Amino acid sequence: MSKNILITGGAGFIGSHVVRLFVNKYPDYQIVNLDKLTYAGNLANLADIEEKPNYFFERCDICDIDRVMEIFRKYDIDGVIHLAAESHVDRSIKDPFTFAKTNVLGTLSLLQAAKEYWNGEWEGKRFYHISTDEVYGALELTHPEGIEPPFTTTASSSEHHLAYGKEFFYEDTKYNPHSPYSASKASSDHFVRAFHDTYGLPTIVTNCSNNYGPYQFPEKLIPLFINNIRHGKPLPVYGKGENVRDWLYVVDHARAIDTIFHKGKIADTYNIGGFNEWKNIDLIKVIIKTVDRLIGNPEGESEKLITYVTDRAGHDLRYAIDSTKLKDELGWEPSLQFEEGIEKTVRWYLDNQEWLDNVTSGEYEKYYEKMYAGR
Ligand code: NAD
Ligand code: DAU
Repeated sequence: MSKNILITGGAGFIGSHVVRLFVNKYPDYQIVNLDKLTYAGNLANLADIEEKPNYFFERCDICDIDRVMEIFRKYDIDGVIHLAAESHVDRSIKDPFTFAKTNVLGTLSLLQAAKEYWNGEWEGKRFYHISTDEVYGALELTHPEGIEPPFTTTASSSEHHLAYGKEFFYEDTKYNPHSPYSASKASSDHFVRAFHDTYGLPTIVTNCSNNYGPYQFPEKLIPLFINNIRHGKPLPVYGKGENVRDWLYVVDHARAIDTIFHKGKIADTYNIGGFNEWKNIDLIKVIIKTVDRLIGNPEGESEKLITYVTDRAGHDLRYAIDSTKLKDELGWEPSLQFEEGIEKTVRWYLDNQEWLDNVTSGEYEKYYEKMYAGR
């Protein structure tokens, strides 16, 4: 089994949780975090484990195949968990080229490096690519307003377990991406599977729903809104706020990655989801209620900050993952109910205002530029 594991994008939101889990849980593994430290990468996310003897950091662009090869050689890498990517849909609409470069060409360069370094000796090797449910496109919202639940119910133990339609994304759902972000992720998924089918590279792909939790860059809905409520700033709701997302606590995603990395079948695909669908506007009201309560505002005070704005171009209406296969085959399911997860998340951002201030001021980017100047 792989023990010298390269985790790409480990300074980002999900990657930092995966690095922390692996470093703490597997002291006999070498965990190498390869990250370019873009605006979304922040080593402060890993301050609690950076001194551990089994943790190593390499600042590197995944598109730089020569450096990636050097890192494979330096650590004798035998497993890859690939998370590095440009991840924000709104940015992809403004700048699709960067997404194609990092997500498609960067993935290709990692695949090529793994193929060359492992050179046909696939035993004990593993290339695990982390992807998104957005590659499947969008589902219908088939239940009109005003009809009381239960509609179709999902398997969540959470109180909020509405399914906003009869359809779900399954592992064999046809790819139908709509944004430059999801198109770039779909393309990278195809390259990963092609490297298995063509060269025999031992690959696994997973497609996960929306993550939430600590260390998420505050351009994404949940941390952005918590931060804006805290500062009394407008909450920009795209369109009518009716889009539906399936939310999973990030630590549960990291647990799923651990399970799949160790027990998943080569060449297989697993969907990972929270069985936890929310309309944006309902979720936003929960966030408002939670923040207001925790900072001592009168209940609902911050609802006045809700500001309906022009919809995101090509905005997917509903995502809903069916992760029954992962539960049945590998025994994984979400451990945290949403009510608990969102409370923990709001508390974390309120308790870590300095982290939020740093990443919004761009101070940390300047710091890393200086620290790694010339490398
Ligand atoms: P993020 O934007 O928080 O982090 C991305 C990380 O990748 C950052 O540390 C960044 O510095 C690094 N990176 C970017 N370009 C790089 C490059 N060229 N070379 C090396 N490193 C580079 O992203 P995230 O939300 O943590 O998502 C991680 C992965 O999980 C992505 O592949 C994303 O598509 C996927 N995913 C995310 C979600 C979600 O809800 N956030 C859900 C499903 C799948
Ligand atoms: O589904 C998985 C995907 O989830 C990941 O692959 C992406 O990397 C991740 O960013 C996320 O994509 P979304 O576009 O769903 O996440 P975001 O937080 O940007 O938006 C969530 C919903 O909230 C979406 O319907 C758009 C809406 N939204 C978002 C922002 C930032 C708003 O209404 N206002 C906002 O300001």
